[in-house]
Amino acid sequence: MYLLGLRLLPLLLPLLSLQQQDLSENKVAIGRMILPALEKATSFMEKRFRELNLDGVVGFWVLEVQLKGVLEKWGQEPALKPLSLRVENIVKKLLPLITRATIYLKLSDSMYFKEFQETLQPGFWNLPHSWSQINTSMIYSKFDNSDFFSEELSDSCMALLLGTKKEGLQPCTVTDVCRELMTKPGCTGYTLSHQLLYFLFAKMKGCSDGLFLQSKYYMDIFCANMMALNLKTEEVGYPFLDRDLFMENIMFCGISGYSDFYKPRWLQIILTWQQPKEGCFGKPYDNRKQLPRVGKDQQQSLRRVKRREKGFSDGCSSHKTGVAVAALGGFLYHSAEHSPTITKAR
Ligand SMILES: *[C@@H]1O[C@H](CO)[C@@H](O)[C@H](O)[C@H]1NC(C)=O
Repeated sequence: MYLLGLRLLPLLLPLLSLQQQDLSENKVAIGRMILPALEKATSFMEKRFRELNLDGVVGFWVLEVQLKGVLEKWGQEPALKPLSLRVENIVKKLLPLITRATIYLKLSDSMYFKEFQETLQPGFWNLPHSWSQINTSMIYSKFDNSDFFSEELSDSCMALLLGTKKEGLQPCTVTDVCRELMTKPGCTGYTLSHQLLYFLFAKMKGCSDGLFLQSKYYMDIFCANMMALNLKTEEVGYPFLDRDLFMENIMFCGISGYSDFYKPRWLQIILTWQQPKEGCFGKPYDNRKQLPRVGKDQQQSLRRVKRREKGFSDGCSSHKTGVAVAALGGFLYHSAEHSPTITKAR
């Protein structure tokens, strides 16, 4: 996979000429890099849809939306026809799998499901149609590294926003505690990515009053800092423990319309993290054998720490796979959307 990527690298270099043919070639090159990975991930989904947690299913659902967007953008361009057929094939497989996975999800985690099923509704996820740049002057002078991510509180704020917390409450509800948590400056890690996700959900839900009058401002700040963190991760050689967040940042800020996250070199590195056999993302496949087996008790305590994570015995992770496919789908959509088919440049 990686070798293939290197061979195609010249095609990914910034385009010097905006000729139609070059644009098609660029799209074909990116499609040829990403589609094999997505096909493999779809095979993983076919075998394991019963075991995915909500984050995993959401990731595949976002991918589904992105692939439909890609098909629309590619249209009838002859050079893209073979790739379009492959994308159509993935879409056809994914849709019933997502439906079936959702049924299992409802049975296994009904409480969590009830609060977040909104994010699995058709029409919830909208793709960006214009792109923003990162504003580097918004990067915090200092990150608060002591910061502790309360998943419970964050989930509760998201549910209030989605209108699924309690019967009879309007969506877009913001409490003082939530406002403070979701706009607090200096946060890093998962707190930061969930601050962005909060405003992203608000955008998808159509919340535009009160706090959300400043949505663009906050999203600019959060993604500028998520970019700073991703660049840091790159600088230190992509340590394994940072990869989940690295891909999550690309998924969330990408869907929010920040095109700087779609760096070709980041695409290439993510592709190398896929487990070649299973098609999933999870533990590094080269040293998996050395990792200690997680016992039942440990699994119990891990669940308390990070409910969103669901690891499988073969090293696949539901969360990582979902985040990875949505990030990869974003790269594909961005390349389809960002290098528009210019009818006449000369
Ligand atoms: C970048 O952010 C700074 C600080 O908020 C602001 O003053 C400036 O106008 C922003 N620049 C752009 C191009 O948006």
